Amino acid sequence: MVTFKQIKVDDVVEMRHRVLKIGQPVETCYFEGDLDEGTKHFGAFLNNELVGAVTMMLKNTNTYKVHPVYRLTGLSVLAEKQNNNIGRRLLHFAEEYISRKGTVMIWCFARDYAVPFYKKNGYQLNVQQVVIPHIGSHRIMFKFVSKED
Ligand SMILES: CC(C)(COP(=O)(O)OP(=O)(O)OC[C@H]1O[C@@H](n2cnc3c(N)ncnc32)[C@H](O)[C@@H]1OP(=O)(O)O)[C@@H](O)C(=O)NCCC(=O)NCCS
Repeated sequence: MVTFKQIKVDDVVEMRHRVLKIGQPVETCYFEGDLDEGTKHFGAFLNNELVGAVTMMLKNTNTYKVHPVYRLTGLSVLAEKQNNNIGRRLLHFAEEYISRKGTVMIWCFARDYAVPFYKKNGYQLNVQQVVIPHIGSHRIMFKFVSKED
């Protein structure tokens, strides 16, 4: 059975290292903002084993004050567990958690090959291409999530 809950930064870092930054120093798996008060980390567990993680970072902005703005980052599911709907369900769990008090806007840098995944999960594509050094081409994607009744 797959379950979802909030997790600690060290667990997220382990998952990023195993999925997103294989072979790179573990220090590269700590992201700026990981320890900020508004940052939440979420994990997916299969029979109590951590198999996926995602981070939502609340970003302060002076230009957009209608809804809280979160940056989604580090979405990762262990290679051998991918394509079992774990990523989709983990993302939904995290979205529901951060929108429980009201509508939020979520944005992310999506790796090109992950764009179809985000589209299927309701994210819209910003046409701008962003090339992140050592990682490659990304697109900015975004979504508004409203509190579920
Ligand atoms: C992207 C990722 C988190 C998706 O998690 P997942 O558990 O494999 O995805 P799910 O099983 O929930 O996917 C559901 C749907 O998305 C599709 N999908 C998943 N990964 C995809 C990909 N890389 N490209 C295109 N479609 C993808 C699945 O085919 C499935 O489609 P369907 O419902 O029409 O059959 C996972 O593949 C992963 O960790 N990839 C490596 C890290 C990564 O790229 N992270 C995103 C960084 S921006």
